[in-house]
Amino acid sequence: MSQQILLRAGVEGSADVALRPMTEGSAAVLGSKLANIQPWTRYQVPPYALSAFLGDIEPGAPRYELRLGDALAGGMVLRLNWMRGPYLQFLGLLPDFQHQGIGDLVLRWLEDTAVKCEDRNLWVAASEFNARALSFYERHGFERVATIDDLVRDGINEILLRKKIAPLR
Ligand SMILES: CC(C)(COP(=O)(O)OP(=O)(O)OC[C@H]1O[C@@H](n2cnc3c(N)ncnc32)[C@H](O)[C@@H]1OP(=O)(O)O)[C@@H](O)C(=O)NCCC(=O)NCCS
Repeated sequence: MSQQILLRAGVEGSADVALRPMTEGSAAVLGSKLANIQPWTRYQVPPYALSAFLGDIEPGAPRYELRLGDALAGGMVLRLNWMRGPYLQFLGLLPDFQHQGIGDLVLRWLEDTAVKCEDRNLWVAASEFNARALSFYERHGFERVATIDDLVRDGINEILLRKKIAPLR
């Protein structure tokens, strides 16, 4: 994995977004801040647990920190080769960096990469109560394929979404 992947901003004058391998320090910051926003507050995920998950090193499951210019903007965890394509296990932007098109750039990069790898699908799951995240993924062409009850906590459903990848011609 190269040290940095640059995602070019579509809007003129906007800073590029960089994906970098997650450092322990960034995992600590992101875990403590993201534990205080939805959906993680609803699950009462302790900050230390989120930091540990984001900072973990696991074959086939790269962790990235997202940077906008010099600023730490969020984090992402992928599970590669999940089911004929990667599973986006975690995507979280800090509140100051939401609604600036970063999520859009990340999903485009994910899809471009999947096309090059000749994957057939992209996968993601979002909590049923997380209406913003669900509409974000649906706007990007993901479709609901299953409801999984009690996956993270009893009484809360998770929605599995899939995007079929159009093959290279
Ligand atoms: C859900 C999430 C990943 C989306 O990422 P994002 O970077 O905020 O997404 P985008 O900016 O690409 O798009 C979101 C909205 O911002 C708008 N937007 C994009 N660029 C913009 C800009 N330059 N100015 C104003 N609005 C903009 C988009 O049109 C979209 O609007 P809409 O929701 O009204 O349709 C992010 O908001 C997040 O981390 N949320 C909290 C954690 C979470 O729910 N994670 C998902 C768990 S499955």
